[in-house]
Amino acid sequence: MIKNIGVVGAGAMGSGIAQVAAMAGMNVFIFDSFETAILKARSTIQISLEKAEDKGKIPRGESIQILNRIRFVEDMSEFKNCDLVIEAVIENAEVKQNLFRELENIVSIKTILATNTSSLSITSIASACQHPERVIGIHFFNPAPLMPLVEIIPGITTDPLLAGEVKTLISGWGKIPVIAKDVPGFIVNRIARPYYGEAIRIYEEGIADFATIDWAMKEFGSFRMGPFELMDMIGNDINYTVTETVWKQYFFEPRYKPSLTQKRLFEAGYFGKKSGRGYYDYAEGRIQPEPTKDPDKGKYIYTRVLAMLINEAAEALYWNVATRDDIDLAMTKGVNYPKGLLKWADDIGIINVLELISDLHHTYHEERYRPSILLNKMADENKTFYD
Ligand SMILES: NC(=O)c1ccc[n+]([C@@H]2O[C@H](COP(=O)([O-])OP(=O)(O)OC[C@H]3O[C@@H](n4cnc5c(N)ncnc54)[C@H](O)[C@@H]3O)[C@@H](O)[C@H]2O)c1
Repeated sequence: MIKNIGVVGAGAMGSGIAQVAAMAGMNVFIFDSFETAILKARSTIQISLEKAEDKGKIPRGESIQILNRIRFVEDMSEFKNCDLVIEAVIENAEVKQNLFRELENIVSIKTILATNTSSLSITSIASACQHPERVIGIHFFNPAPLMPLVEIIPGITTDPLLAGEVKTLISGWGKIPVIAKDVPGFIVNRIARPYYGEAIRIYEEGIADFATIDWAMKEFGSFRMGPFELMDMIGNDINYTVTETVWKQYFFEPRYKPSLTQKRLFEAGYFGKKSGRGYYDYAEGRIQPEPTKDPDKGKYIYTRVLAMLINEAAEALYWNVATRDDIDLAMTKGVNYPKGLLKWADDIGIINVLELISDLHHTYHEERYRPSILLNKMADENKTFYD
């Protein structure tokens, strides 16, 4: 039975993961190489638990008990009895590999070693270990205590039974686990790319401004946030880096090509909300631009971005990145899409989605707009994703 959890890295993700595990009744040991990070994590978790108590999400007085289950340790040797260790240190393959090498000398042979990496290959991290069969990706979303989705990613050397075992554990922590193949971006960070990339492209072509594109996606697609608002919230530094990493790791697949617009924002330090400026200017008193609420233009923008998203989801299914159900769950629970993309495709009609993508392909003659082979096959055979 898994009861003792080690967390390495007490930053944004590590502290959130420690909180989730402790709330699920686990004994948690958390370590960071910077003492200040540990102090900050303790206060972040405490504030977050107190908020949960105030909102009635946990019973009064429970936050102290949960906090008492977390031990902020000064040395990783304290992990020796851990059943599972999740690392959430900086996104650097060498640092993660060295960490796992070190951990293998501390923990037992049965301990599961998990990485929370967003963009590195699980298999490459595992390759540093003497026992790569115990290494798996457990990818939480930020903020971990609030976001329900967790992607579980076995590498090619992972024990085939481990993903199922970890899935059961993570469900028991109150999260929604999905299983993803060890491919760049896994499910969410791969399929969501057109939400940003196609929106930027529409802007770069001069079809509409940021505010109008954001309005179109919310008004016609019922997305909670428009692409530019969302990129400003995620941070253009993070969003740009993920785009570039996914593109490079897919051997420069044109569908994932980053944009110069976002690169320039990144270079300028216009990271978004956190830096006070991104696509929008967040200076105090600044009046935000109004969208041009032209319904024809709005519908064009929404259908173009949605068709690209569906094409991406169909590609992910075709290439076995995940199952149909996990793909739809991932996008609704990981990035709050109003509907699963494959379900959405059925509602619109596969033939109609294919026509939208094919029109773009004919117009631009770019590989970026290549319709998924799966959509082509399904349209030919008059099939739907769901019965
Ligand atoms: N922030 C996100 O939105 C997000 C979402 C999902 C996954 N991730 C992934 O989670 C991981 C952590 O991201 P984060 O945003 O929490 O980063 P962060 O910078 O907030 O925290 C990283 C922490 O790791 C510590 N650290 C670095 N090297 C260490 C080492 N060798 N041993 C112990 N501690 C070490 C740092 O002191 C820091 O406190 C990364 O792999 C990232 O890709 C991030």
